[in-house]
Amino acid sequence: MTYSNPMGRVEWEAEKIVRLRRMLMAWYERSHRDLPWRKSSDPYAIWVSEVMLQQTRVAVVEERFKAFLERFPTLSSLAAAPEQEVLAVWSGLGYYRRARMLHRAAQFVVANCAGVLPQSSTELRLLPGIGAYTAAAIASIAFGECVAVVDGNVERVLYRVAGWETGVRAGSAALKRKVTELAGGLMDRERPGDFNQALMELGATVCLPRNPLCLVCPFSPDCHTRGEHRRPPRPPMLSREVAHALAVRTNYTTAKGRGAGKGRARGVREVLLEQRPASATVMPSMWELPQLRETAVPDKQLLMAVRHAIMQVNYYVRIRTVAEDKVDVLTQAGGARRWVPLRDAGAMALTGLARKVLTRARLLPAESLDPPEDVGTSAQKTEADAG
Ligand code: ADE
Repeated sequence: MTYSNPMGRVEWEAEKIVRLRRMLMAWYERSHRDLPWRKSSDPYAIWVSEVMLQQTRVAVVEERFKAFLERFPTLSSLAAAPEQEVLAVWSGLGYYRRARMLHRAAQFVVANCAGVLPQSSTELRLLPGIGAYTAAAIASIAFGECVAVVDGNVERVLYRVAGWETGVRAGSAALKRKVTELAGGLMDRERPGDFNQALMELGATVCLPRNPLCLVCPFSPDCHTRGEHRRPPRPPMLSREVAHALAVRTNYTTAKGRGAGKGRARGVREVLLEQRPASATVMPSMWELPQLRETAVPDKQLLMAVRHAIMQVNYYVRIRTVAEDKVDVLTQAGGARRWVPLRDAGAMALTGLARKVLTRARLLPAESLDPPEDVGTSAQKTEADAG
């Protein structure tokens, strides 16, 4: 097999291909991480894991994967759940459109495929929200189809091994085509799922963007780069300033109703939340703290300042404590508002920022994770989004 290279032509002769494949699979055998979805052969569980792994760190996914499958153990249980509940269980993972699309695709499978996930990558791509990456991952890992999975990690590994540095722009469609072709040629036809996971794993744990561990890399003897490659500078992060109100009250009416006849009313602590419009382009229908009219917050009322990154934007967020009777004056007129008992808030479809603030203010328990901010193992920008 021959691949063009602007620095000359790279011959990927059969011997080298066999050697690379063998080295990779042996490395994977001894080095792969023991991750919960790797113990499952259930296509639905594999699908959930692959959707979660897009743009989210493995450590975060490990925990959330188990919780998600406990709540929605089967494709049909997911399809039958209300969307708000799916979003609530997803809350903290970010990129909520992935959860909506997963939910919608599960409903599609129940309605049109008798509840059984299609087995080929071509058919899987017909489902809502499933693109080339997810289809290839499910088809190869769950059903043994010989189709290459190309995520950001695989792209980096093969870009370096092939030494394409000066010829093809990182992230370009041309590079993706070349990498897909190369990965397809290298594929272990006996174990396509393991092969794909091995390449992704190598990128995630050895062929790192910075300080790659070339001394332990199975590809090192054949690698044209053997280290970091030159990359175009990252686009700078944008900055935005916003301010939200944290309004908390104690509601004695509710407490009396519930605890009537049991002596002293203790009151129920409630927080004011606002639901984003269903038509919003980002995080539609999710619950957040009401936005303040002014981004400047007087020192005395400043509860906390939080940085919250979404895609290329750093939000510098000021949180102001607002008394119940000042809410209308200080906040922007917005969508539907509700005083929510704090004990119920954690289970709602909160935005990552709202969850972060309520957790830091100790109004939610600490296990209500901070949302992930970094790019995870697979950087699938075409399939994921900011919602
Ligand atoms: N990144 C996304 N999916 C993965 C998988 N199954 N194994 C390793 N890394 C991954």
